[in-house]
Amino acid sequence: MRFTIACLPGDGIGPEVVGAAKLVLDAVGGAAGHDFVYQDALIGGASVDATGDPLPDETVRLCRRADAVLLGAVGGPRWDDPRARVRPEQGLLAIRRELGLFANLRPVAPHPRLASASPLKAELLRDVDFVVVRELTGGIYFGDKSRTETATDDVATDLCIYSASEIERVTRVACRLAESRRGKLTSVDKANVLETSRLWREVVTRVTRDEFPHLEVEHLLVDACAMHLVMRPATFDVIVTENMFGDILTDEASVLAGSIGVLPSASVGESRGGNLPKGLYEPIHGSAPTIAGKGIANPIGAILSGAMMLRISLGLDAEARAIERAVAETIDSGVATPDLAGGSGRQASTTDVAESVAQRVGAFLLPERVIV
Ligand code: IPM
Ligand code: MG
Repeated sequence: MRFTIACLPGDGIGPEVVGAAKLVLDAVGGAAGHDFVYQDALIGGASVDATGDPLPDETVRLCRRADAVLLGAVGGPRWDDPRARVRPEQGLLAIRRELGLFANLRPVAPHPRLASASPLKAELLRDVDFVVVRELTGGIYFGDKSRTETATDDVATDLCIYSASEIERVTRVACRLAESRRGKLTSVDKANVLETSRLWREVVTRVTRDEFPHLEVEHLLVDACAMHLVMRPATFDVIVTENMFGDILTDEASVLAGSIGVLPSASVGESRGGNLPKGLYEPIHGSAPTIAGKGIANPIGAILSGAMMLRISLGLDAEARAIERAVAETIDSGVATPDLAGGSGRQASTTDVAESVAQRVGAFLLPERVIV
């Protein structure tokens, strides 16, 4: 089959990790007989420099036409002036919103070999396997902002808005995911303080009671959840939360996996009829400007995002699994970028890791290896 993938490398290490993901996708495509056609487009700071706009219309058009979108990262010190009117991150928020990608799935399932790369005790990490479903197109990220300067003081506001329908649709995505896993949903809010969170809790309670009565449901306040994530991470299955809490909690959760560099994400919208949902796939790490251009960025988050893309938007489950197994085997073999290798071990480059995964992936497509 032939698939068109819009590629948005963005800034910093974005182009390096997207390149690594393409290498692996081409290997799996070659082995399985698929043709991935990449169409590169501008986003973020690179786009600001080239066009003055962090998300040109042409990029949006290309993403709409493609079967899926693969993104690297946006932002960097070059564009960090707090007074700037145009910022790279606006491009990322706008593409999420333009494509209606309201649910951001961030799986956290630490590889056992990486336990020593995490500051947490190895026994806490055993059996950790959860997915954070982060609401992605609402909340404080998208409410009106203001800045007022008076003679005596400066005042800034960010409005946080949620409607019941926005909460309902992301809750349903999380519930369906929990149904396909261990059947537990944790909803995270700050209902003791925020009105948006009281609505959030009300809606999640109603949707789970009326539509998913067989799920085990717990509600946690976000501060408590931040603590439980490092105290009892193995007890979580699916966590659903609003945009900003999800942003913060998933960076925290990356500590469980040993490095933020290994975590993938999928952003999806409503699936249209029987069709697979259009999606945007990106590692959860940022543009990491301090290591950009050095060839040492960890490509695993981007490679695993590619696997999620194959599974969710292209319907290629066996190929996705082959990538995930090839990544696990690569980690087992000790080939690791400096963020994971630490002081010990052989330090591999971004390309070394990608090539190691690419070389292994074909074998996992063979039925006898799949059964093993
Ligand atoms: C993420 C990032 C973005 C976000 C930034 C770059 C705007 O931190 O995808 O988690 O806050 O959503
Ligand atoms: Mg973030």
